[in-house]
Amino acid sequence: MKPTDTQPSAADAAPSGPSRRLFLAAGAAAGAGAFAAGATGVALDRAGAFRGSPTATDDAGTNGQRVVPFYGEHQAGVTARPGAFASFVALDLKRGVGRERLAAWMRLITDDAARLTQGRAALADVEPELAATPAGLTVTVGFGPGFVTRARRDKPEWLAPLPAFTIDKLLDEWSGGDALFLVAADEPGTVAHALRMLLKDSRLFATLRWRQDGFRRAYGSDPHGMTMRNMFGQVDGTASIRPGTADFDAAVWARPDAPAWLQGGTSFVLRRIAMDLDRWDAVDRVGRENTIGRRLDNGAPLTGTDEHDALDLDAVDAHSLPVISSVAHARRAHVADPAKSIVRLGYNYEERSAPGSEALSLTGLLFGAWQANVTEQFVPIQRSLDEADLLNVWTTPVGSAVFAIPPGCTEGEYLGQALLEG
Ligand code: HEM
Repeated sequence: MKPTDTQPSAADAAPSGPSRRLFLAAGAAAGAGAFAAGATGVALDRAGAFRGSPTATDDAGTNGQRVVPFYGEHQAGVTARPGAFASFVALDLKRGVGRERLAAWMRLITDDAARLTQGRAALADVEPELAATPAGLTVTVGFGPGFVTRARRDKPEWLAPLPAFTIDKLLDEWSGGDALFLVAADEPGTVAHALRMLLKDSRLFATLRWRQDGFRRAYGSDPHGMTMRNMFGQVDGTASIRPGTADFDAAVWARPDAPAWLQGGTSFVLRRIAMDLDRWDAVDRVGRENTIGRRLDNGAPLTGTDEHDALDLDAVDAHSLPVISSVAHARRAHVADPAKSIVRLGYNYEERSAPGSEALSLTGLLFGAWQANVTEQFVPIQRSLDEADLLNVWTTPVGSAVFAIPPGCTEGEYLGQALLEG
């Protein structure tokens, strides 16, 4: 059943005429979306909180009302199932914005995120109806090197641009940044609205540096738990450590030697990697599978039959040659020790090419990685790929940024408080 069959939009449900204007004014003034959707039981209370079926889950047919808890030890976006649509936004701090103003900014952003992720309008939200469909919204905040410098606190040594790699063709327009918003949900309108609210509340403090939008399989198009495919058609994300496991904790959360303000947090690397689809078109299926070391149909290793079979890196064929090539991407990227692994977060991107251009599209991967320590985890893997990886023939990193991801917070606290008040 289509979502629209069961859930009229909040705008449909809002009163019209003078009462509608009153409603909007009240919403703008108090952050309240006081309306009811009658027949559907979908409603917002005076505080703008969603009422009705807040426990609606993925299995309900629609998931517009799926809510990911905001408060907690860690920021929810690190462990939540990634939303189908994401916007990664980097900001640069305005001149003169120091520690106190950073705290004021983070209080505002935390309040916005706490409300919007729960399906509630942000304060002074003039489109409160758009907040009523959280669709699993998560808002994750990160700090670049410039932010920590302005906070006058010690940086972890890895909070800096990555070392140069020979494959890089980095552009300033996709690199760096003092702060990061990662906004993700299963509904693109939700992402757009949440981002607009966050950016409105950032105007006094920072300017937009870059914005990168990505997508994974749309909600409902695949059974849950299926691994996504990238735009080369490859099953991408199979060998991934799952949240809630000891391996995930070892790979992701800041270690005791990290600064106190980062305990409970992690780091995030975002690489924008262009994928040359036009030249990839010329590669046959055998070549494509050898490039990764996995099958295209179900993502199984060339040494196995099921997607989640372990890679057998020692297997040889009848000619004593490795079944998974010595330069296959999966071999070059493989790390056995969870403490040296990264947890990947991939989103496809597709930009329109300029009218009249020979290129049909500008396509690639927003390659994100969570890890406790960038230098000890991300860099060695990227170096191994830089030295030899068949995939490099068709892929080029064009953007790169590194952020510290502060821990989560409890109600009454704000993101980054330990950095800004510690
Ligand atoms: C456009 C660029 C890239 C594409 C298309 C791509 C694609 C893939 C695919 C298809 C797999 C196999 C399935 C899976 O386990 O997910 C894979 C595995 C992996 N990739 Fe990438 N990848 C890209 C860039 C990167 C980068 C930049 C890194 C890290 C610096 C990386 C790290 C990994 C790791 C750690 C694995 C798992 C290896 C294993 O243990 O089996 N990839 N990638």
